[in-house]
Amino acid sequence: MIEIPQPDDWHVHLRDDDMLQAVVGYTARRFRYAMVMPNLATPVVSTAAATAYLDRIRAATPSDALDFRPVMTLYCSSAIDPGDLRAGIEKGLIAAVKYYPAGATTNSAAGGSSMADFMPIYETLVETGARLLVHAESTDPAIDIFAREEAFLVDQLAPLCARIPELAVTVEHISTSAGADFVREHPNTAATITPHHLARERSDLLADGMRPDLYCKPVINSASDRDALLGFATSGDPNVFLGTDSAPHPTSAKYGPKAKAGVFNAAYGLEVVAETFHQLDALDQLAAFVSTNGCAVYGVEPPEHTLHLTREAVDADRATELHTASGDTVVLFGTDEASLWTVAPG
Ligand code: DOR
Ligand code: ZN
Repeated sequence: MIEIPQPDDWHVHLRDDDMLQAVVGYTARRFRYAMVMPNLATPVVSTAAATAYLDRIRAATPSDALDFRPVMTLYCSSAIDPGDLRAGIEKGLIAAVKYYPAGATTNSAAGGSSMADFMPIYETLVETGARLLVHAESTDPAIDIFAREEAFLVDQLAPLCARIPELAVTVEHISTSAGADFVREHPNTAATITPHHLARERSDLLADGMRPDLYCKPVINSASDRDALLGFATSGDPNVFLGTDSAPHPTSAKYGPKAKAGVFNAAYGLEVVAETFHQLDALDQLAAFVSTNGCAVYGVEPPEHTLHLTREAVDADRATELHTASGDTVVLFGTDEASLWTVAPG
């Protein structure tokens, strides 16, 4: 058995309406801070909209949540008023701004075509000490899908970091060795890594019957990229931490001719990460990755609660899917790993 401080999820999609109702408990019963992504069908671009969304999240949160603290983000776009952003940050209502390249992923149509277009937003972030969260993936159709993270880092983010070195950046869901190297080499940056990018490689997605449930953006990359991510996550580097990118989509949207990108891992993501660390004999680094590194980067106090994780084969079958009130089904990622681990409040 190992005991860890209550973990945080520094990147999660909680959605809205009946999907929010169906998924928020998985995050709230396990994680403390949750950095809530703003890519709703109508992007969250104002403090008022983020506050209204936070109210809906709180209303949907079950009463047996451990110590759940959702924190809100705005969607980087020309619709943000820098004055409103500043006020939202100063009142503690907004924690960060998320940049999406237009067209890269779910609900990203309102995103940017060039990072250089949003200087007033970055200046406000620097002045208030808030972070810019970046989906680092080129949308250039001439660039191979598996090379798009590196292309974006080189073409878009590196010049921005050189232009505004004071801007604190979290490179979200890094998926390649290039992503890990970028964060190691750029002082004011940090990275989140997802359970699925640590535990799977692109052959799992494509080799034995195409697996829409593993399809996400950025796409899961090669075995050597996965090894580089595992090396980074278990290294003790303080600038890398868990962001699940848990992103539920109904099976009706996953199993069609154009599968939606997103892996729903809020239920078992912690077990998946624990198993990857166990396989590398690196469980002594688990608390840093899932609990303490992120707290230090985001400047929040350590948690009061702990979790106990025990590795033992569990007889009871783990749930493999959830159902929303309107009849949608969402597949739960990580049932194999979940059957090896038990997680309980400490
Ligand atoms: O796979 C993904 N799904 N990547 C993202 O960046 C967005 C997310 C979603 O919202 O479904
Ligand atoms: Zn995401």
